[in-house]
Amino acid sequence: MKVLVTGGLGFIGSHTVVELQNEGFEVVIIDDCSNANEDVLEGITSITGTRPLFERFDLKDKNRVKDFFNRHDDLDGVIHFAASKAVGESVEKPLSYYENNINTLIYLLQELKNKEKACFIFSSSCTVYGQAEKLPIGESAPIKPAESPYGNTKQIGEEIIRDTCKVNEHLNAISLRYFNPIGAHPSAEIGELPIGVPQNLVPFITQSAIGIRGELSVFGDDYPTEDGTCIRDYIYVVDLAKAHVVALQRLINEKSASNYEVFNVGTGKGSSVLEVIQSFERVSGKKLQYRIADRRAGDVVAAYADTTKANKELGWKAMSTLDGAMDSAWKWEQKLRLKTH
Ligand code: WQD
Repeated sequence: MKVLVTGGLGFIGSHTVVELQNEGFEVVIIDDCSNANEDVLEGITSITGTRPLFERFDLKDKNRVKDFFNRHDDLDGVIHFAASKAVGESVEKPLSYYENNINTLIYLLQELKNKEKACFIFSSSCTVYGQAEKLPIGESAPIKPAESPYGNTKQIGEEIIRDTCKVNEHLNAISLRYFNPIGAHPSAEIGELPIGVPQNLVPFITQSAIGIRGELSVFGDDYPTEDGTCIRDYIYVVDLAKAHVVALQRLINEKSASNYEVFNVGTGKGSSVLEVIQSFERVSGKKLQYRIADRRAGDVVAAYADTTKANKELGWKAMSTLDGAMDSAWKWEQKLRLKTH
């Protein structure tokens, strides 16, 4: 079985390539390396012993996409990660986010819709729910007006796939709505590589603890939660990667009830910012320096998944604990700094 993974050198993409190879898939990666490092290919290869095929080009180049599918007409599936994903940056540069995240999706689907059978997994996000009224959040929760162009590209992307599947019965697709992916492969050969100052909580914690960032700012402790800090569903990236493999196998083996489905992919458990800090301190044995700062615009109070559908339909469940995921993140950070010193 041969699978295209776009954005396969990225954080979630690279971990998914490893799990696909572990399941015996042949993997070809397309990545323009705008937000990823080609060295990640070595990391994947050192884990699995198999070097994925790799082509470096921008999916916004429609002719390159066409040419790729002409040369690879034996694909059994496509997992589409390649997209810009920084919420704040998307507010500053909406057009580049719409062009990069929407055009590339359209070009891929234009190639797939001509196939006799096509299996497509889309990287979506719990951000489509905004602040859900009811917790935990199920797949039927209302989709809220996006709080950022990034979030809007995920909503629009899902609608484009849904509408295309409606008129192409041999196109089978699943959108996976991720909650908060964290951690790194247990080998510490691959992990999260934020560019610049990390916007996300966990990479900022590990960079602060290792000494390349100042103290962590906790964005608000006056929310209506037990300890006053926001709650999220932090899912170990390897568990998330495995969800992609079972979702793809569901499509290839034609186990889906319809040719377009959506699944929430989380642990089903919410953790507050302070609980994440306490988890880090437990696994690292280090005291984390932090201060309470103002709330961050756009943050929802709480979001964690109702994972019943993924557990039941995909036969998939997140296995790692928060401590396990945080331990892997810390080990990765320490290994990274060893490499760069
Ligand atoms: C988590 C919590 C912050 C940094 C975003 C995107 C989402 C997905 C995952 C791509 C919040 C708090 C954070 C810091 C803090 N990305 N925090 N100090 O915002 O839930 O989700 O990343 O798909 O689409 O929206 O994740 O890690 O940024 O924040 O206090 O320095 O940590 O306020 O409560 P978020 P996050």
